[in-house]
Amino acid sequence: MRVAGRLAADVLDMIGDYVKPGISTGELDRICHEYITKVQSAVPAPLNYRGFPKSICTSVNHVVCHGIPGDKTLKSGDAVNIDITVIKDGFHGDTSRMFFVGKANIQARRLSDIAFESMWLGIEELGPGKRLGDVGAAVQKNVEKNRFSVVREYCGHGIGEVFHEEPQVLHYGKRNTGLELREGMILTVEPMVNAGKANVRLLPDGWTVVTKDHSLSAQWEHTCLVTNDGFEVLTLGADS
Ligand code: MF3
Ligand code: CO
Ligand code: CO
Repeated sequence: MRVAGRLAADVLDMIGDYVKPGISTGELDRICHEYITKVQSAVPAPLNYRGFPKSICTSVNHVVCHGIPGDKTLKSGDAVNIDITVIKDGFHGDTSRMFFVGKANIQARRLSDIAFESMWLGIEELGPGKRLGDVGAAVQKNVEKNRFSVVREYCGHGIGEVFHEEPQVLHYGKRNTGLELREGMILTVEPMVNAGKANVRLLPDGWTVVTKDHSLSAQWEHTCLVTNDGFEVLTLGADS
């Protein structure tokens, strides 16, 4: 799991330089696919996962998650989440970051910063004897303190030889509730944070999730191991 996590982070470190005005999300997908399959000798987990057609997810501006790469070109001011999951020797590493195209939009930057900080506050709750409600409560409190909202329909997850497994890691909740964590568990923390209302809508392509009010959305994700005295983040990279 450490190797898979490192490889997923390496893909994000690699792709950052390509996120420039004029590139299409389909090109980003192609570059990541080549890198994962040829350089890393790994497998891009999204490809054909429950029918997903591409190797990465690219979620631009008001797209919350699961954006399908295609002909859409990025322009200055866009904010894009790139979500990478690789399989190496049967194990999954799953991580995402926000990238800004050209001149960063101040609102998008602030939303991303709060999503990043909230993810870390959630991660810092992890440890043996802690409960999943502690993670959700920490994330929710920080998001709402900043008058943004937490998406309810999608959540973090257990991960290992299976991409998405139990438990569900909600990014909202109450302290001292939910599953008790134990050493050795591996899960993702990946809050989706909206500038406007929390409500989302699924587009007819069956994958792309957008904010109902078309407000901006941001997300960051790490794969984390519960250790004997806290946590270890398996997907740390150069700037996450
Ligand atoms: N990587 C996403 C997650 O964080 C899941 C993407 S599923 C896909 O769980 F099929 F859209 F790739
Ligand atoms: Co995930
Ligand atoms: Co992911």
